[in-house]
Amino acid sequence: KMGRKNILITGGAGFIGSHVVRHFINSYPEYKIINVDALTYAGNLLNLKDIEDRENYTFVKADICDFSEMQNLFRKYEIDSVIHLAAESHVDRSITDPFSFARTNIMGTLNLLQAAREYWNNDFSNKLFYHVSTDEVYGSLEFGEHPFTETTSYDPHSPYSASKASSDHFVRAYRDTYGLPIVISNCSNNYGPYQFPEKLIPLFINNIRHNKPLPVYGKGENVRDWLYVEDHAKAIDVIFHKGKRGDTYNIGGLNEWKNIDLIHQVVKVCDKLLGRAEGESEKLITYVTDRAGHDLRYAIDATKLTSELGWKPSLQFEEGLEKTVRWYLDNQDWLDHVTSGEYMNYYKQMYGE
Ligand code: NAD
Ligand code: DAU
Repeated sequence: KMGRKNILITGGAGFIGSHVVRHFINSYPEYKIINVDALTYAGNLLNLKDIEDRENYTFVKADICDFSEMQNLFRKYEIDSVIHLAAESHVDRSITDPFSFARTNIMGTLNLLQAAREYWNNDFSNKLFYHVSTDEVYGSLEFGEHPFTETTSYDPHSPYSASKASSDHFVRAYRDTYGLPIVISNCSNNYGPYQFPEKLIPLFINNIRHNKPLPVYGKGENVRDWLYVEDHAKAIDVIFHKGKRGDTYNIGGLNEWKNIDLIHQVVKVCDKLLGRAEGESEKLITYVTDRAGHDLRYAIDATKLTSELGWKPSLQFEEGLEKTVRWYLDNQDWLDHVTSGEYMNYYKQMYGE
C-alpha cells in the first residue's frame, strides 16, 4: 500500500518527536525509522523504551549541526524522507541563550536541507523533507482577532520564534531555488506525556507534587491554544502522506485557554488525583515577573487541514488533561530522573531558591 520508506526523524528523543516515532513505528511496520538526536537536556531515550527493540527502528546519537555526519546518515540509511523536529524549543531558554537557538534551529535545519539536496541529487520522486514548525512564527494576536491562517505574515518576537521563522524561510527557499519537495506544518501548544517539566503544564504538575510555588508570568492573562500531543503526531502522519507538496498546514486544537484558567484546571485535576482536598494547591499560585516580549495570544485556524485532509483533534481537553496528569503521577520516576542534575541549576536561575 504505502510501500517501503527510509524515514529520518530528527529530535525523536524529545517530547513530540518520541510520539511521532512511536506513532510511525506502530502504524507503518514496513517503514524503516532512523531517529537522530543529540540527546541534549531535552532528549531522553527513556521516552522510547517501549519501542527501542523494534526491528524497523534505529537510533543514532548525532548533532544535526554536524554536516558530514548528516551526509553520512543519508548515504548509510538511504534516506528518502525526513521529518525534522530537532530544535531548541523553550522560549525562556532562548531569552538567556539565543545563540544555541540560531545554531540548532537555523544552521541545523540548513545542514539537513543541504544534505538531503545533495543525496537526492535532483531525483525527487518519492522524496519529502517535512519541517515541523510552530505557530509562534506568526507573532501575537489581540483578543478577538481572527486566528492565524497559513497566509498570516511572519512576525516573530522571541529568539526562539525568530529562529523557527528563519528555518521555515530556508525550507521554502530550498523549495523555490532547488525544487526540493517540502512540506511545513505550524502547530499550537502541545501537551501530554514526556513533555520536559520546563513547559507550563508538566512544570506545574511537578511543582504541585512537591508543594512548590506555581510561577504565573504577569497577570496570567496570556492565551494559548492547546493540542494533545498524539493528535499532533496524527496530523503529521496525515500531512506526511497526503499533504500537498510545497504547502504549509496549520495545526491547532480549537482550544484556547487563558493561562490562569488553565492553571486552575491543572490544580483541580492534580488535587483530585493526589487525594488532596479540592482547591488545596491553589495556595501555591504565585504571580511573578512577566516573560520578556511575552506574546499575548496564539490561536490557530486549522480549516485548511481539516477541510482538505480531514484531520481533526480527537481528544476533548478535559479528557486529555486528566490523562496527562495521571501519566505524570504514574511516572514519577521519569519526572525524578529528568529533574535531577542540571535541571536544578536551570530552576534556580529561572525561579530562585
Ligand atoms: P523538545 O525540546 O522536547 O525536544 C527537542 C529534541 O531535539 C530533543 O530530543 C533534543 O535532544 C533534540 N535536539 C536538540 N538540539 C539538537 C541538535 N543540535 N541535534 C540533534 N538533536 C537535537 O521539543 P518539542 O517540544 O518536542 O518540539 C519538537 C519540535 O516541534 C520543535 O521543532 C518545535 O519547534 C516544534 N513545536 C513544538 C511545539 C510544542 O508545543 N512543544 C509546538 C509546535 C511546534
Ligand atoms: O505555540 C507553540 C509553542 O508552544 C512551541 O513552539 C514551543 O516550543 C513551546 O515551548 C510552547 O511555547 P510557550 O511559550 O507558549 O509554552 P510554555 O509552556 O513555555 O508557556 C505557556 C504559557 O505559560 C506562556 O504564556 C508562558 C506561561 N508560563 C510559562 C512558564 C514556563 C508561566 O506563566 N509560567 C511558567 O513558569
